[in-house]
Amino acid sequence: MIEIKGLVKTFPDKRVIDGITVDIREGELFSVIGPSGMGKSTFIKCLIRLLKPESGQIVVDGTDIGSTTNEFTLAKVRRSFAYLFQEGALFDSLTVFENVSFGLKYLTDIPKSDYPKIVKEKLALVGLKDVEHLKPAELSVGMKKRVSLARSIAFAPKYILYDEPTTGLDPVTTGMVKDLITDMRAKLGITSVVVTHDMKLALDISTRVAMLYNGKFVEVSEPPKFRQSPDPAVREFMRISHLGTGDAAQ
Ligand SMILES: Nc1ncnc2c1ncn2[C@@H]1O[C@H](COP(=O)(O)OP(=O)(O)OP(=O)(O)O)[C@@H](O)[C@H]1O
Ligand SMILES: [Mg+2]
Repeated sequence: MIEIKGLVKTFPDKRVIDGITVDIREGELFSVIGPSGMGKSTFIKCLIRLLKPESGQIVVDGTDIGSTTNEFTLAKVRRSFAYLFQEGALFDSLTVFENVSFGLKYLTDIPKSDYPKIVKEKLALVGLKDVEHLKPAELSVGMKKRVSLARSIAFAPKYILYDEPTTGLDPVTTGMVKDLITDMRAKLGITSVVVTHDMKLALDISTRVAMLYNGKFVEVSEPPKFRQSPDPAVREFMRISHLGTGDAAQ
């Protein structure tokens, strides 16, 4: 479980996260939604301390990483997280096999002789077969997403963070990524945090949706309740996403 208390993150010219308190529970698929530039990526980066917050606690399974500077503690907690970057960020010069086993090499003590079995297994989980020898340039956009995901789950993380997983994808690939995210949770029980500006995606897949607006979560609720939120920022975001609030609009 991730317990966030009074999280504040400022950049020289602005307070991007202005006191967020929320618990992300085991097995949840928690989405953070909000307009571009609102601080969604900043939020997710604080969760694994790629960014150091000015104040607040981020308690991951009992360990507060909000303010610690102990590299050992940080490394230990980070090991329970997978982070799926927006662009997938595969290494172009490495094969699919090398990409997927990358984390194993640096984050685990698993013997090299086990890599082929693990890589094959993870690729199968994301619906790929016999692609180990290919380079990213030989893959479609959808396949790249799958390989990135296989790499993220190769070391059996407890949490997975997705930053804008569907941005820039066509509708078919978007649907596929959506299924992958729900599958990962269903098959592996991974607690998932998705940040996105795709309201439909968030409402479709999440156990709870949080709306980030002016540094705060102005609404945190289950999708049916979220749709009915009276909060002006939520309503406006629903409107520009061409989604109504309430049954009549479905
Ligand atoms: N390292 C940084 N230094 C200074 N300002 C930053 C830094 N990172 C982000 N910001 C600023 O913080 C604000 C929030 O940025 P962030 O990338 O978290 O937003 P976002 O909600 O993820 O946006 P998008 O939907 O476009 O990805 C922006 O105004 C951005 O310019
Ligand atoms: Mg972002």
